[in-house]
Amino acid sequence: MRRHTLAVLPGDGVGPEVTRAALTVLDAAQERFGFSTARTEVPLGADHYLQTGELLTDEVTASLGTADAILFGAIGSPRVTPGILERGIILELRRRMQQAINLRPVRLYEGVPTPIAGLTPARCDLVIVRENTEGAYVAQGSTVHRGTTARVAVQESVNTWYAVERAVDFAYRLASVRRKRLTLCHKTNVLVEAGALWTDVMSAVGERYPDVETDYVHVDAMCMHLPVSPERFDVVVTDNLFGDIVTDLGAVLQGGLGVAASGNLNLDGSHPSMFEPIHGSAPDIAGRGWANPAGACLSLGMMLGHLGEGEAAAAVESATAAVLADLPALAGEGMGASTQELGERIAATLTEGSAPTITGSLMSQLARVMGGDDVAW
Ligand code: NAI
Ligand code: MG
Repeated sequence: MRRHTLAVLPGDGVGPEVTRAALTVLDAAQERFGFSTARTEVPLGADHYLQTGELLTDEVTASLGTADAILFGAIGSPRVTPGILERGIILELRRRMQQAINLRPVRLYEGVPTPIAGLTPARCDLVIVRENTEGAYVAQGSTVHRGTTARVAVQESVNTWYAVERAVDFAYRLASVRRKRLTLCHKTNVLVEAGALWTDVMSAVGERYPDVETDYVHVDAMCMHLPVSPERFDVVVTDNLFGDIVTDLGAVLQGGLGVAASGNLNLDGSHPSMFEPIHGSAPDIAGRGWANPAGACLSLGMMLGHLGEGEAAAAVESATAAVLADLPALAGEGMGASTQELGERIAATLTEGSAPTITGSLMSQLARVMGGDDVAW
């Protein structure tokens, strides 16, 4: 039997709630598709930090490094100064595990309400590939004249050919198993140094993918195009900061933060990849069963695709989409069922195999891009 080793980091707030629901769905997927997982839960987050003062220790890093994949909930708590847990755990994990890109699908499923008037599922199926290790998120910078009103803060954005190339190459590869369109999103008219590097990498890597058509959009214009004409995009590649921002807008198109999924992918096999809903710990609704587990379940689907369980991945996606389409509301009390009840409903739908198949599933594309024998990494 195929067996995968998983590290599970539920984290804070609604993180443990949505992760538990996703694991219920994983149980059902294993049962139906005949594979097993060995799961180790890692108690990183606010409680652990407040009790021990520890963030991500070398020992925990080493043990996470032995997993085939990491399933992550959310981190962050009003009891801890903002930035300590987020930077000390999430950003540090992405960096130490060399998770080169953050992959964020923006897909509106059939029957799911969107706040964008007139938007249809046929027009909203794109994937944003966010460079995940550098840009403005390298935590480099300096302050002079601290404590005075003459204070000067410099925050650097780092762009290396190496990291940009691996993100762009992945984006081309993904586009080539999809609709063969790749858009670079940047701000080349103002950030001319970084912009030129990204543009040159796009051209150089593009020579290896002659059948992929390319396009360029400034990040500010992206905020207009995304809600108005998302059909213009298939795969979008962008830098860390721009990707962080435009994917929250993307999440709105598909029904809200509770629905959006992501994968932090290590592309060279040196460390595990990590899969997480894009939302945070939602302290405003934590403990009430009001979090939508769809983002966590779709992230589980991406994880299964990444592990080569393409059929299970597609089944998780279609069961989640079918349950979402039946909900009276996508968040809060109005969902009419708790987070865990929804996890059980998705699991039951998956077991029955009654959900309509989703065409052009990103989850199975991932299995092809990541798991195929012909792929070097
Ligand atoms: P958030 O994503 O936690 O919440 C934003 C809004 O979306 C809230 O109104 C929340 O109730 C709602 N929401 C979030 N997840 C939902 C779900 N599954 N179902 C229904 N509604 C949901 O972002 P916020 O409030 O800015 O941050 C809260 C904490 O989470 C902070 O400490 C922040 O730093 C952290 N954070 C952590 C992330 C991570 O672990 N990757 C990502 C974003 C924020
Ligand atoms: Mg964000």
